[in-house]
Amino acid sequence: MSKRFYITTAIDYTNGAPHLGHAYEKIITDVIARAHRGFGDSVFFLTGLDEHGQKVQQAAQAEGLQPQAYCDKLAEQWRAFVQALGVSNDDFVRTTQPRHQKVVQALLEKLHAQGDIYKAPYEGWYSARQETFLTDKERREDGSWDSSYGEVTRLVEENWYFRMSEYQQWLIEYIEATPTFVYPDYRRNEVLGFLKNVTLDDLCISRPLSRLSWGIPIPFDPDYVNYVWFDALTNYFSVPASLGDPVACDVLGASAPAKATGPSLWPADIHVIGKDILRFHAVYWPIMLKAAGAPLPKQILAHGWWMKDGEKMSKSTGNVVDPLAVIAEWGLDAFRYYVVRELEIGPDGNWTDEGFRQRYTSELANGLGNLVNRSISMLNKYRNGVVPNCHSELEPDAVRAVQEVENCLRQRRLQAALSGIWDLINKANQYVDRTAPFKLAKDPEQSGRLDQVLYNLVETCRVLAVLLNPFIPNTSERIYAQLKVCSEPELWRHTAWGGLLPGHTVGAPIPLFPRKDLVPKV
Ligand code: MSP
Repeated sequence: MSKRFYITTAIDYTNGAPHLGHAYEKIITDVIARAHRGFGDSVFFLTGLDEHGQKVQQAAQAEGLQPQAYCDKLAEQWRAFVQALGVSNDDFVRTTQPRHQKVVQALLEKLHAQGDIYKAPYEGWYSARQETFLTDKERREDGSWDSSYGEVTRLVEENWYFRMSEYQQWLIEYIEATPTFVYPDYRRNEVLGFLKNVTLDDLCISRPLSRLSWGIPIPFDPDYVNYVWFDALTNYFSVPASLGDPVACDVLGASAPAKATGPSLWPADIHVIGKDILRFHAVYWPIMLKAAGAPLPKQILAHGWWMKDGEKMSKSTGNVVDPLAVIAEWGLDAFRYYVVRELEIGPDGNWTDEGFRQRYTSELANGLGNLVNRSISMLNKYRNGVVPNCHSELEPDAVRAVQEVENCLRQRRLQAALSGIWDLINKANQYVDRTAPFKLAKDPEQSGRLDQVLYNLVETCRVLAVLLNPFIPNTSERIYAQLKVCSEPELWRHTAWGGLLPGHTVGAPIPLFPRKDLVPKV
């Protein structure tokens, strides 16, 4: 069975409500997944939740719920959120699922058996109130601690460690030899800089049950549970293994959770994550896989962080963007469009309500919406909606746009891809102004020329629907519906010029993006 294009997002902590940052990550991953499906790849898109650990245990306690009941409640909210974003994920992983837990335990057993995991004492400053070890970073200059930590004492605790340091040189060489492993390039340099300047500490992967019960039990030591990152990162691998992916099952040998006859998924093609968790994905994760004898993911794609009005988003100050509220007011595709159009994958983004409104009005309503609306309206008005003979005046522009957008999508330059699409929209709008079909319609001798112009316009709208499909799939389908085209706008090959056939009758125009600034507020 040929390998599927396997793409993932980070899995989100279930200790709060989803926000713009989570939405952004899922949407850019969705755009890439949809684009690859359009290119003809068989895609597997995974997203989900990171449900273990102290923060979740505490959040559950604060609500007076058992951790599992609390996670079940939040999981419903998060699943609904993913759906509301129009995300086309193929699976949804929760780290509390038995299918995941079995694989975490199998990996721990394997690494333990080969001597990559060992037990050692750790001595440090401990806050009993917050149930956590503190480092010097949390300490004031005069040696005292913030009162929120309560009494801070020296404590010695035994824990399990994963031996990472011996893989450090190998990883440096791997990343140097594999320029595409971390994207964008400056993030790759950051990882290399870190690896070359610091000696990696071994990773503490356990917590004693007495301190934390909400975790996956360490199979070879009943007094401990696995601590979050080892558990969380493994989700990318546990889902393929549980579905019977041959490579993942081979790595786990006799402990594989399924017959090795499932879809071929591993290694992942892309892990999409935020810049704050790059080190876990570009250092810890490859070392865990290397130690386990598994091939590495092909690419770690690190996006930037969203701010609002130039400041960090924070619930306490009310400086947040609620994606669901924006979607309720402006529609899903307006939201998807803005977050992808505003920044390339890499740098940080800044949400402003004004910027959103401006893009909505000038690019969606006046740009795309106006083009589609007037093209279909004129065809209805002047030709009863019947498509005239094919003509190819705008074909070279369309072909250029298709090529450019495909290149950008393959290079993960989603913002540039949208710019390329809007170049074509602007060209087509200028074409209307230049050819002035409303004047041609008044002169019977210009009837042939009017046919040509109308064909070029509606066919460009159809090609645009296909180009836009990965980004704003609902709008793409609405354009196809208004054109009464029965084929699927999600297939990239339908970008070929000439899809609308002479004699075909289009439907009535319906505004795609109503101008909000013209509607009086009640
Ligand atoms: N649970 C870990 C990830 C484990 S992956 C094996 C985690 N969860 S999180 O809920 O805090 O973050 C999930 C993702 O959302 C991360 O990739 C993070 O970078 C992203 N974002 C969280 N806030 C963000 C912004 N303000 N802007 C953009 N993305 C941000 O980390």
